[in-house]
Amino acid sequence: MAKAKVQYVCSQCGSTQMKWMGKCPDCGEWNTLEAVTIRPAEPGRSTLAANGLTTATPVTLASVGASPVERLPLRMVELNRVLGGGIVPGAGILVGGDPGIGKSTLLLQMAADVARHVGTVLYVSAEESAHQIARRAQRLGIQEERLYILAEIVVEQILEQILHLRPVLVIVDSIQAIYTEGGASAAGTVSQVRDSAALLLRVAKQHNIPLFLVGHVTKEGTLAGPRVLEHMVDTVLQLEGERFHAYRLLRSVKNRFGSTNEVGIFEMGDRGMEEVHNPSELFLAERLPNAAGSAIAVSMEGTRPLLVEIQALSSHTPFSQPRRTGNGIDLNRLLLLAAVLSKRVGLNLADQDIFVNVVGGMRINEPAADLAIAVAIASSYRNCPVCADLALVGEIGLSGELRSVGQLPRRLHEAAKLGFARVLVPRSALNRKGADGLPAQIEIVGVRTLRDALEIALVQ
Ligand code: TYD
Ligand code: MG
Repeated sequence: MAKAKVQYVCSQCGSTQMKWMGKCPDCGEWNTLEAVTIRPAEPGRSTLAANGLTTATPVTLASVGASPVERLPLRMVELNRVLGGGIVPGAGILVGGDPGIGKSTLLLQMAADVARHVGTVLYVSAEESAHQIARRAQRLGIQEERLYILAEIVVEQILEQILHLRPVLVIVDSIQAIYTEGGASAAGTVSQVRDSAALLLRVAKQHNIPLFLVGHVTKEGTLAGPRVLEHMVDTVLQLEGERFHAYRLLRSVKNRFGSTNEVGIFEMGDRGMEEVHNPSELFLAERLPNAAGSAIAVSMEGTRPLLVEIQALSSHTPFSQPRRTGNGIDLNRLLLLAAVLSKRVGLNLADQDIFVNVVGGMRINEPAADLAIAVAIASSYRNCPVCADLALVGEIGLSGELRSVGQLPRRLHEAAKLGFARVLVPRSALNRKGADGLPAQIEIVGVRTLRDALEIALVQ
């Protein structure tokens, strides 16, 4: 029979070593390694049973109680919303975004928020010096006692400081700038990013410390580094916005602890990122009510309805290939809508350049904004304004028919709240069960086709 083996298990971090050491190489604690005898399996018995361990057995779902998670609450409502109601202890959260969009600013504000109300926070800056962070903090009016800054790029050192300080929250800015001494390649390479993240996440999970990692994005706008990083973390947040617009949208792309597609809206100001609680009002503030080429769409961002102004300009061109430019909308969608307007409504757009812009630097991806885009184009082409008190909701099909969209009651409540008197919706949406609970204070007009919608929407 094979002989029993002895291994050493760290009582602090649970790592196993083949020989005894005074200091655990994984967590750095002293005198924590304990000898464990591993008996080989007797014939016919499993190794697990031989060592007095039990194997997991299947249990019914009903018998497992889902224990409520205690989340770290944030005063920043918008951030809370995106995270699904606060920071879950032990969660790994990746925050991506273009350079200069405001990731460091937002996370420093969040760090100050947690330091003030909950406990010690460690902000690891691998890109900027402690002085630079301090200058930013001064500008933001942050002077928390419990907020610690660490300018460090070696993961092992960072881990040591985390274990020493035992903060309630750790932020690492950025994952591309740090490296592990165990890796052979330079900082920022795929294997370094993956290994460094794995080390940090393991300690975060073991000690139940939430960990925010800042990630760079590539030119194409996807998170740089290995794709596996997105699988390793629990939540992926994306900070978006046009550089020359003040608005910033924080989107949750993946969230194991909340719904995805939630957005938090911020405005970059002199004193950092300010939350925007009533975005629709803000987006409509500069609107000229009777200008041709402007229409109001009611779009959904996650669970939140947003009213946005869509502007279109159609202008004659002597060139044989007219231009189509979409800012904030998908260009293919614009081409499709222009084709439907030509073929089904009879607008002669072949000699027209068409420009479409979503006001405020917003990006709309959902087809529910189709109707507003098409109406804005037609309004500009005919030089005829859209009724000022009208909002538009609906997807447009290739036959020029209006197709129903989800979450209609929510959209209409928001439109009513902002003082719109009428809203055009696809007629089919009104027959469905989803139409229950529509607001009474707004006139709801159901239409079947884009042609009918234009009759009603444009001021004749
Ligand atoms: P930053 O948070 O450094 O961006 P990131 O970490 O995503 O690269 O933000 C940089 C920009 O934000 C910079 O152009 C200056 C601007 N900013 C403000 O407008 N107001 C402020 O209060 C702060 C701190 C920065
Ligand atoms: Mg930064």
